[in-house]
Amino acid sequence: MKTTIAEVKNYVGQEVTIGAWLANKRSSGKIAFLQLRDGSGFIQGVVVKAEVSEEVFKLAKSITQESSLYVTGIVREDSRSPFGYELGVTNIELIHEAHDYPITPKEHGTEFLMDHRHLWLRSKKQHANMKIRNEIIRATYEFFNKQGFIKIDPPILTSSAPEGTTELFHTKYFDEDAFLSQSGQLYMEAAAMAFGKVFSFGPTFRAEKSKTRRHLIEFWMIEPEMAFTSHEESLEIQEQYVSYIVQSVLENCALELKTLGRDISKLENVKPPFPRITYDEAIKFLQEQGFEDIKWGDDFGAPHETAIANSFDKPVFIVNYPKDIKPFYMQPHPERDDVVLCADLIAPEGYGEIIGGSERIHDYELMKSALEKHNLSLDAYGWYLDLCKYGAVPHSGFGLGLERTVAWITGTEHVRETIPFPRLLNRLWP
Ligand code: 4AD
Ligand code: MG
Repeated sequence: MKTTIAEVKNYVGQEVTIGAWLANKRSSGKIAFLQLRDGSGFIQGVVVKAEVSEEVFKLAKSITQESSLYVTGIVREDSRSPFGYELGVTNIELIHEAHDYPITPKEHGTEFLMDHRHLWLRSKKQHANMKIRNEIIRATYEFFNKQGFIKIDPPILTSSAPEGTTELFHTKYFDEDAFLSQSGQLYMEAAAMAFGKVFSFGPTFRAEKSKTRRHLIEFWMIEPEMAFTSHEESLEIQEQYVSYIVQSVLENCALELKTLGRDISKLENVKPPFPRITYDEAIKFLQEQGFEDIKWGDDFGAPHETAIANSFDKPVFIVNYPKDIKPFYMQPHPERDDVVLCADLIAPEGYGEIIGGSERIHDYELMKSALEKHNLSLDAYGWYLDLCKYGAVPHSGFGLGLERTVAWITGTEHVRETIPFPRLLNRLWP
């Protein structure tokens, strides 16, 4: 029976064949232990000299790392392995012999691994990260579909700049200038006025000169947008959504979390409601903690966010930032003209901001003056202004950065290991 490692649990006591690569190998005298991987998982193949032909045993002892094979064997339960099963090998067929695989089981430097990202992806840790990334994406579609959202795909090539004009990637669009999307938000607002509750999932681009463990040049964002929805109602959806993906990963990726050595007690606790503090309170808290440099009106840096996150055991919303440090489209606070109805969601354990969201301006005159104040041309944004002209309604939305969320849930230090092929400052290769 030809099967995959993920499926061997259905064939205990039976003989199966799997296509696999040799991840690692240990052997002594009359026995060889093959660490096999096939993309669906990892399993140990045990080759005993007395149980296989002479050629097969010779092959088992000489196979090189990352050679590809068809391995046949009897599936056995194995309580000592975290996976729970092993293969009592009866036959091995060599497909392709790999020579001098660069990533050996010893330690390698990060730059070396990044240069070999196309191969590094085969490692157990990267495999676990990508499986968890996939589970978050799966749970995202499930959550929003269950809640009656429909998925809408905003364009990647755009003529608008929702998050400010300084971090745009320019390109030519025949004779016109175009940008790579920083956020699909404005299009999602138009979609919300057509479909009520919508969400997007796609790549976004920021020409940020930031070289930190939280910044990618190309990252993937989930952007829900909801008509007839207040800021507070949006926060409730956000805490339900984030809890849903964390609980889904706990339920469906237990083996991967174990592989990564993640402390899951911290994740089990992630359930609504999440604490909320105002920007004003956050500034006061930081000043009391001894951050002397920070004053009202400043944006938070990573150390500030970490200090705030460390005083909570769940993600925390910081609400109502000063309007001067936020984008043009945010709805002003009803009682104060210096802050807006927005929130950033800060992940626990120092992983930083994972969500930025707000209620949006829907008053025509207010939007017009917000665009003018930010020097955004009424020509380019005419279509967006139409949303305030024809049946405008209160609406809110947010954007969750997938890679920062994967970093947090997997416990990965740097976002470069949370996306298959990271685009970083000074790195467009491989
Ligand atoms: O806070 P941001 O800039 O918000 C927006 O783009 C809104 N238009 C979203 C919306 O309301 N529809 O970005 C949202 C999230 C951040 O909280 C962060 O998780 C992630 O996107 N993010 C990045 N992730 C990796 N690398 C970067 N350079 C990122 N910039 C933002
Ligand atoms: Mg933000």
